[in-house]
Amino acid sequence: MAIILTLTMLFIAYSQKKTTICDIEQYYDFEQNENIVDHTRINQTDIMLTNSNIYILDENLQVLNSIETPEISDYICNKIITHPLHLILLLACQSQQKGINPIMFAYKANGLNQYELFGEAVQMQQVKENFEKMIIVGNSLLIPQSDKILTLTTVISNNSWYLKTTSYTLDAQFLNVSNLNITNFDIYSYVKDFQTNYRILISDYENGVYWIEAISKSNNIVPYNSGRFNIRSFYIPNTARFRSAVILNATNSNTLFILQTYVDSSFLFEYSFTSSQLFFYSTLNKYKDWNAFSQIRNNKNAILIPYQNYQKVVVINLFNLKSLKQNQLTVEPNDLLISASIDNLILYFISENRLVFRSDVDALTRCTLMNYQEV
Ligand SMILES: *[C@@H]1O[C@H](CO)[C@@H](O)[C@H](O)[C@H]1NC(C)=O
Ligand SMILES: *[C@@H]1O[C@H](CO)[C@@H](O)[C@H](O)[C@H]1NC(C)=O
Ligand SMILES: *[C@@H]1O[C@H](CO)[C@@H](O)[C@H](O)[C@H]1NC(C)=O
Ligand SMILES: *[C@@H]1O[C@H](CO)[C@@H](O)[C@H](O)[C@H]1NC(C)=O
Ligand SMILES: *[C@@H]1O[C@H](CO)[C@@H](O)[C@H](O)[C@H]1NC(C)=O
Repeated sequence: MAIILTLTMLFIAYSQKKTTICDIEQYYDFEQNENIVDHTRINQTDIMLTNSNIYILDENLQVLNSIETPEISDYICNKIITHPLHLILLLACQSQQKGINPIMFAYKANGLNQYELFGEAVQMQQVKENFEKMIIVGNSLLIPQSDKILTLTTVISNNSWYLKTTSYTLDAQFLNVSNLNITNFDIYSYVKDFQTNYRILISDYENGVYWIEAISKSNNIVPYNSGRFNIRSFYIPNTARFRSAVILNATNSNTLFILQTYVDSSFLFEYSFTSSQLFFYSTLNKYKDWNAFSQIRNNKNAILIPYQNYQKVVVINLFNLKSLKQNQLTVEPNDLLISASIDNLILYFISENRLVFRSDVDALTRCTLMNYQEV
């Protein structure tokens, strides 16, 4: 009873400090066992993926259209991304059993808010482990495994598509280290000398953060340099294990990033490639003793770090990058967003200061962030 009461109270107070105003909460009429699993954005429209449907949403969270996803026994279609160069969605279906290759489907735009299966399903032979994240830049599809980041090339013609292996694997050999236990990765593009460059950060469970420099050659990512940030020499406990490194900004000479740990806090750092120095800004305090959950999101000055307790309730810490850079060593969140007990969080921005998050098993909530704009 006590738990239920607390939950209700938390739930009513979506945003604790009123720097976030939530105006719409939309409940969906899901089938039994239907569960929200992922989100992507295509052609300026949001896509909500559940374990049985692709929903196309407008900015008021209304369903414009829905498409049933393939039913394959023992598989769950749980990751969706948008191809940056085509009006194509890629849907990954992963087996519940270990060691079975995921299957990928493509959906192609076919009129306003219409998408239809395109070409043949692709069995992803190279992928041995289930993944939580995939990213496409240009034609390159990046998928993390514990000992490498696979880089595949998407080849798309008018009526078919396939995945091609590349000669680049971002693995221990490429990084010149003896072993890797990759927990997450992030990629950020910037332009240098009219050429698209990429900075990739890879978080390693014990060894901190590796960086990779890459360029884009005919829309394919080509890595050419790498190194490691010496995180351990800083403010981080020796026992800390690393969960993710999220890039907030990157230029030719700098990388501003958040390093997230499993049980300790998260940390804001900037690395200068000119001076080869790592600068520590601040510690982003965690929410109580709750567990790090899902992925960190950011947009302009807003940084959102989700936590979950044993009842699966989710609290999202919101930090303002402006205040993190003002020489405060330890920073408490500016605000909190709270959701009911859920298995997967989805959280995305629909404009510079408006976001949508999953607030219940079958609901999304839209909020406006106040005071996170540039000064
Ligand atoms: C993409 O957006 C444009 C402009 O709003 C629209 O004309 C077009 O039909 C959209 N395509 C799809 C597949 O929704
Ligand atoms: C692909 O489709 C475009 C537009 O419909 C057409 O102009 C082009 O000739 C097609 N290419 C091939 C190889 O069929
Ligand atoms: C790889 O690492 C070893 C041992 O740290 C070092 O001696 C060697 O110079 C490195 N090789 C390259 C190409 O960086
Ligand atoms: C590798 O990382 C995972 C977390 O992704 C962790 O649970 C596991 O213990 C790590 N393995 C080793 C050998 O450190
Ligand atoms: C990234 O940093 C550069 C150089 O400091 C700055 O000009 C740019 O506005 C920053 N971009 C973002 C998105 O913060």
